[in-house]
Amino acid sequence: MKGIVMAGGSGTRLYPVTQGINKQMIPIYDKPMIYYPLSVLMLSGIREILIITTIEDIRNYKKLLGNGERFGVSITYKVQKAPHGLGEAFIIGEEFIGSDSVALILGDNIFYGSFFSDTLKKCISLSRGARIFGYFVKDPKDFGVVEFNEEGEVISLEEKPLHPRSNYAVPGLYFYDNTVIEKAKRLKPSGRGELEITDINRLYLEEGSLSCINMGRGMAWLDTGTFDGLVDATNFVKAIQDRQGIMIACLEEIAFNKGWISREEVLKTSKPLLKTNYGGYLMDLVKLKEKR
Ligand code: TTP
Repeated sequence: MKGIVMAGGSGTRLYPVTQGINKQMIPIYDKPMIYYPLSVLMLSGIREILIITTIEDIRNYKKLLGNGERFGVSITYKVQKAPHGLGEAFIIGEEFIGSDSVALILGDNIFYGSFFSDTLKKCISLSRGARIFGYFVKDPKDFGVVEFNEEGEVISLEEKPLHPRSNYAVPGLYFYDNTVIEKAKRLKPSGRGELEITDINRLYLEEGSLSCINMGRGMAWLDTGTFDGLVDATNFVKAIQDRQGIMIACLEEIAFNKGWISREEVLKTSKPLLKTNYGGYLMDLVKLKEKR
């Protein structure tokens, strides 16, 4: 399975900050926002990743992440000319996806919770249909909303409904078989002029091949598209990291634990970062492994 991070958009809810910088470059506590969705793809075991962003921002992403070698993955880049919607990911990414299945994650979504890696690993074995998630929220109006029947089967999907039929929002992480490319090409722009991911999910629902996993209350899902969301996410990451002494979304740690990069590579990355906790953490990582 391949992975796509959608890191374009216009970020209008974060103006004036995003008039000068791409949203996914903004720090969430001690690392750029894009590290968090990248960590989710890597924890799933996905090693071929496409980042889709704007023409203005592609250079900076290349500077930050390079070809992904440092993290034991391959990262390539494509431009989305304008924010035409998430469904466009599969048209822009057609060549990259090839004949594979694909996971899509939004650049401003953060996930954290026990057993999440196990759930992810199961998702990447998907060869037919689509898998999305449902997450109970107080106010789902700003999200895609999924409704279930008593058997837990999906019965409806709505995009940003005024009167939601359930409290289950659909987080920005989706797994699809290869037919997603053809489905994306069939889409017509919505009233707001976007190729909607909800319309793609609805095509899978009509086909009877959409499954939805309830994330449960033990999972944290944070959307960092607003100033309040940024502060909440920063406080959340800081609280967990300070308390447990572990890092959320340390890409080198994930790669090292998976055996994708060597101790020498971790040490090399840590050297220019030694004034930060991130660099010190990488150093400790290698030393800890040596003690065991
Ligand atoms: P949104 O938060 O829906 O849109 P946005 O980032 O443009 O922000 P705002 O609403 O404040 O104007 O986008 C969710 C994520 O998807 C975000 O990480 C950007 C990305 N995205 C794209 O890459 N391309 C798109 O066409 C859209 C709509 C979003």
